[in-house]
Amino acid sequence: MNKLENKKILLVICGGIAAYKSLELIRLFKKMGASVKTVLTKNAQKFVTPLSITSLSQDKVYYDLFSHENESEMDHISLSRWADLILIAPITANTISKLSYGLADDLATTLILASNKKVFLAPAMNVRMWEHPSNKKNVNKLVDYGYNFIGPEIGDMACGEYGEGKMTEPENIINIIIKYFENLSKNKKLTALVTAGPTHEMIDPVRFISNKSSGKQGYEIANSLKNNGFETTLISGPTNLSPTNGINFIKVNTAEDMLNKCLECLPVDIAIFTAAVADYRVKKIHNQKIKKQEKLKLDLEQNVDILKHVSNHNSLRPKLVIGFAAETNNLRENSIKKLLEKNCDWIISNDVSNPEIGFNSENNKVSIFYKNQVEENLPKMSKSAIANEISNKIISYFN
Ligand code: CTP
Repeated sequence: MNKLENKKILLVICGGIAAYKSLELIRLFKKMGASVKTVLTKNAQKFVTPLSITSLSQDKVYYDLFSHENESEMDHISLSRWADLILIAPITANTISKLSYGLADDLATTLILASNKKVFLAPAMNVRMWEHPSNKKNVNKLVDYGYNFIGPEIGDMACGEYGEGKMTEPENIINIIIKYFENLSKNKKLTALVTAGPTHEMIDPVRFISNKSSGKQGYEIANSLKNNGFETTLISGPTNLSPTNGINFIKVNTAEDMLNKCLECLPVDIAIFTAAVADYRVKKIHNQKIKKQEKLKLDLEQNVDILKHVSNHNSLRPKLVIGFAAETNNLRENSIKKLLEKNCDWIISNDVSNPEIGFNSENNKVSIFYKNQVEENLPKMSKSAIANEISNKIISYFN
C-alpha cells in the first residue's frame, strides 16, 4: 500500500477548474506514504484554498516568491532540491507557455526553472486551447526540454465542450508516478557506460587528427540514463561540455585512452558508444613541432575499434551493446553492415550530411536498427528528447 513511502513530492497547482482534482491527488499521495509540499499559483488560489490543502497535506502551502516567511523557511531553490519529483497538476496553457519561454515571474515558474528534478506535467484546458498551434509548439518545446507529460485525456469538459484537454484522473497520475519510482529503483541496480565526443590523435605537440563531434548526443544520453536511476559512467574525449552531477565522469584524449578506460569500467550492463573515435593515429608522434614543408607525409595506423572490442569480449560483454553510426549515404545498408560486423544489439544511425541535424546541431534525426535488422525511424527531435527515447527503450528492454 505504501508504494510511495519516504518519497517527497512537490505539487504545483495552477489556476483551472481541474484544480479541485489536486486535492484528491494530495490525499492519494499521503495514503501511499509520500510527503507532499504544495505550491499554488495566484490563480490557483481562486479555485482551491490553502486551508483545504494544509489539512490534507499536513504541511504549509507555498505561494509567494517574495514572502519573508516562505523564503526564510524554504526558498524556491530549497523547495525544488527537497523534492524527489515535481508534479504540476493541473498545468494551464499559460504556465506551459511561460515554461516554454523560461519565464520565472512567480514561485511556481521560478522553482521549475531552477529545478534539477524529474518534472511531470498534467495539463487541463479547453480542447481549442490544447489544440492551438501556439500551445502545441510550446508543448513540443517542453518535451524537448525533457519534461514529461501525463495526458491530457479526451472527454467532456467543465466548459461543456468535448475533446482532448481533460486532466488525467488522479489515480492514473499516481500509478504513473509509482511506476516511475519502481523503474528508478530497478534501474539503480543497472550500470551503464557511455562514450562521447571526438578523440584527439596527436601529430606533434600542437597538431592533432580529430573530427567535428561536439559530444552533445552522448552527454544527453548519459544525463537521461542518470536521471532514470542508472549508475552511469561517461567516458568523453575533448569537448566544451560539462557533465551533470551524479555521473561518473572520465576525461580522455586519445582512442587508446578511451579503450583502456572502457575496459577498466567493465563489467557493465549497458554500453553505448556514441563517441566519434578517430579511426587513425600517427604511428610516431613528433616530439617537436613539424615545420612547414612542401610535402608532408604522415604514417598512420588504425586505432582499435572500441565498440567491436567490447562487444566481442568473451567474458565481460555488456548485456546490451549499442553502437552509433554517422553516415553520409546508404544509411540503411551501412548501418546493418556495422550492426553485424561490430556484433551490436542495436545501431543508432544518423545522416551527418544534413547540417540541420547531427554534428554540432541541437537536433538530430535517428533510425534504430535492431539485431533482427528491423528499422525504427524516429522523427527529428532535440538531442535531449532523443536521449530520453533511447533511455525509455533501454528501460523496456530490461523489463
Ligand atoms: N567506434 C569505436 N571505436 C573506433 C571507431 C568507431 O568504438 N575506433 C564506434 C563508434 O563509437 C560508433 C561506431 O563504432 O558507435 C561506428 O562508428 P563510425 O565512425 O560510424 O564507423 P566506423 O567504424 O569508424 O566506420 P566508417 O568510418 O568507415 O563509417
